[in-house]
Amino acid sequence: MTPPQQLRIAIAGATGVVGRHVVAHARAAGHSVVPMSRGTGQDVTTGAGLAEALTGADVVVDVTSVLTTRTRPAVDFCTRATGKLLAAEQDAGVGHHLALSIVGVDGARRGYYAGKVAQERLVTAGPVPWTVLRATQFHEFAAQLVQRTGIGPVVAVPAGRVCTVAASEVGAALVALAEAGPSGRATDLGGPEEAELADLVRRWLAATGQRRRVVRVPLPGELGRRMRAGGLLPGPDADRGRATFGEWLAGDAAAVR
Ligand SMILES: NC(=O)c1ccc[n+]([C@@H]2O[C@H](COP(=O)([O-])OP(=O)(O)OC[C@H]3O[C@@H](n4cnc5c(N)ncnc54)[C@H](OP(=O)(O)O)[C@@H]3O)[C@@H](O)[C@H]2O)c1
Repeated sequence: MTPPQQLRIAIAGATGVVGRHVVAHARAAGHSVVPMSRGTGQDVTTGAGLAEALTGADVVVDVTSVLTTRTRPAVDFCTRATGKLLAAEQDAGVGHHLALSIVGVDGARRGYYAGKVAQERLVTAGPVPWTVLRATQFHEFAAQLVQRTGIGPVVAVPAGRVCTVAASEVGAALVALAEAGPSGRATDLGGPEEAELADLVRRWLAATGQRRRVVRVPLPGELGRRMRAGGLLPGPDADRGRATFGEWLAGDAAAVR
């Protein structure tokens, strides 16, 4: 299908959980796609390979991420990545920077969310016309959490309620925003239903045949308080994805096992 205007869309983090879906939706819509990750020679923290990749690009979608819960590495990564991307976009004449952030990051000073706050600040004050979409945790987050907490019979899951959304729907929303052009803060995107994060992890483990015990742990500190107070849930004006966690489990979950 040929879209009304065919764009050249450079996707930083193209191999990631949501990046793969951005690539697929952009290609399905007939756009020209430049997938970027370290495997294809682009490093957003050093700037390597960015000039070549961004030549002729209309929009850059930033869905890179760093695997950490610590403040300093998160802020360092987001600051460096956003700085290098914006500078390369400016040099290449790219007219739209589209970043994915997270519902509920406002005012975060610690942990991974502090990195997202730093990223948003740079993008919104930056030289390239921008859009920031905040989404809730993905359905895939249950799997990411288990994979990140390592092996062993017990999985510790932060206590708190979430409203997860399918990464595929977030990918589709990002492509629609790329087509719309710079829009500032887009309407937040959440999932169709609320749940306790530990329950989602239990359901994912059961659906993928893994026998591990899930322990719900009230996290200390800022993020723990935020999670228990419902601070990661979308507000009443948010757009809502349609696919429930159960539907995702029945379909795509095997792919992230
Ligand atoms: N996961 C969630 O529940 C969730 C919810 C809302 C928003 N978000 C946001 O969505 C974005 C993507 O999250 P995700 O979970 O999809 O991430 P992910 O699966 O961990 O993927 C991260 C991507 O970034 C790339 N990357 C990492 N370091 C890089 C570097 N130095 N240079 C170039 N590419 C690099 C990775 O590719 P290589 O390692 O191959 O380089 C990979 O393609 C993040 O901004 C995150 O904050 C996530």
